[in-house]
Amino acid sequence: MYNSMDMINSSAVSSSIALVFIAAVITKVAWGRITADPASRNTLPHPPAVSGSSVIPLLHTLVTKGFRAMLQEQYTKFGSVFTISFLGMKTTFLVGPEVSAHFYQGPESEISHGSFLEFTVPMLGKDVGYGVDIATRTEQNRFYLDVLKPAKLRCHVAPMLQEVEKYFAKWGQQGTVDLKQELEQLLMLISARCLLGKEVREKMFGEVFSAFHELTENSLQLTSLLFPYAPTLTTRRRDRASARLSSIFAEIVRSRKSSNRVEEDVLQNLIGSKYKDGRPTTEAEGKHTSTATSTWTGARLLSHTECLEAALEEQQQIVKKHGDNIDYDTLLEMSFLHCCIKEALRMHPPAPIFLRKVHKNFTVRTREGYEYEIPKGHTIASPLVINHNIPYIYKDLDVYDPHRFGPGREEDRVGGKFTYNAFSGGRHACPGEAYAYMQVKVIWSHLLRNFELKLVSPFPRDRLAKACPRT
Ligand code: HEM
Repeated sequence: MYNSMDMINSSAVSSSIALVFIAAVITKVAWGRITADPASRNTLPHPPAVSGSSVIPLLHTLVTKGFRAMLQEQYTKFGSVFTISFLGMKTTFLVGPEVSAHFYQGPESEISHGSFLEFTVPMLGKDVGYGVDIATRTEQNRFYLDVLKPAKLRCHVAPMLQEVEKYFAKWGQQGTVDLKQELEQLLMLISARCLLGKEVREKMFGEVFSAFHELTENSLQLTSLLFPYAPTLTTRRRDRASARLSSIFAEIVRSRKSSNRVEEDVLQNLIGSKYKDGRPTTEAEGKHTSTATSTWTGARLLSHTECLEAALEEQQQIVKKHGDNIDYDTLLEMSFLHCCIKEALRMHPPAPIFLRKVHKNFTVRTREGYEYEIPKGHTIASPLVINHNIPYIYKDLDVYDPHRFGPGREEDRVGGKFTYNAFSGGRHACPGEAYAYMQVKVIWSHLLRNFELKLVSPFPRDRLAKACPRT
């Protein structure tokens, strides 16, 4: 499975956000003026806009206080819909659930990813994702949804647990670890086992790990994001790693097919998937980004005694009921741990902003009742860094408070289905959500049950906010 957002580590995400403006300039230079569609003019006003010299203070805030502060200022000033016009490129920000429905569920002919994900084509190959036409991509997404649906996830719990137990057994009695590095390694091992299969896990883990590392490192460099086809050293390294991974997986698929061997991994399910016209799938790529989520969950829990105690208490209750045994149903009972992960994702979403291109004018109505027309040609942005920090939805929004999602509060439902967007929503909702929660829960339930952990370094800085967030 692939997902561009998934593959972008937090540092690359922050640099790519800073790049939105640079990309805007380049797009403008390359394609000229955005043209208005005279046929669709109506009486509704366009959103309030920051343009010309008023962009300068905004850039100043971006540099001195960070991306979130810059958007927050505009949101406070203009409300939930505003346009930033920079050197001819118009980006309209849609903040909050009331104005987000069309962004997430508008038809592809009206709202699409445009060329924002072009850099994923040489990274993942021309046969998947944004390398194929929309109809094939929709079918591929159906395969992912099918193989990652909860009913098919049960069989992954036992192998995940084995990997987790084996990995942490190496930690010994006491010591200091770099949690992010450790979780990254472990999650790669879990992916190798559950998604990519036995061959990778047992025989070629080192080879796949280094090719995967080389692929992501070089694909997410500034130059590769902006100029994915430029003949640079990074794009050459990216292409070499991509070709290596493709040939490894093609070989595994061929070997399984020719020997009629069937395994219990996601790769096998994808091999078994067929397009509507009967064509079989050829190969699949598997990736994950749960590292950031599990690291932030840990950093937040370890800095918040009350939450840590509540999470431990939940584990003790579950052990009392089921003993040490963990299976799919036991994981579902870990509702407080679930909320801890969800709250870490609210505060530190790995994909902090989504961008789309508008192909047909549409209108939005704000909570206060203002209506605006968003014209064709605009880029639209759904900024999670603000969506997840709206005061009328999230109480004490700077405080890490997993209880906000618990019974009786359920703040993620206050504004309807687009209130909480860590896994996106609508048409491009992440099909890996249940799998992601499952693996982070397997890891953290094991750590909570078996180790006493203390954060010895300062609380990690979120690259999107200059100031260190409160816990
Ligand atoms: C905590 C972990 C994860 C987070 C926060 C996350 C988040 C997201 C988000 C925000 C999107 C949509 C981006 C957009 O709207 O432009 C997405 C798409 C996707 N994710 Fe995830 N994801 C996670 C883990 C996973 C895992 C583990 C898998 C697979 C095993 C996966 C597979 C996918 C796929 C295939 C898509 C593309 C869907 C489409 O374009 O319709 N994700 N993910």
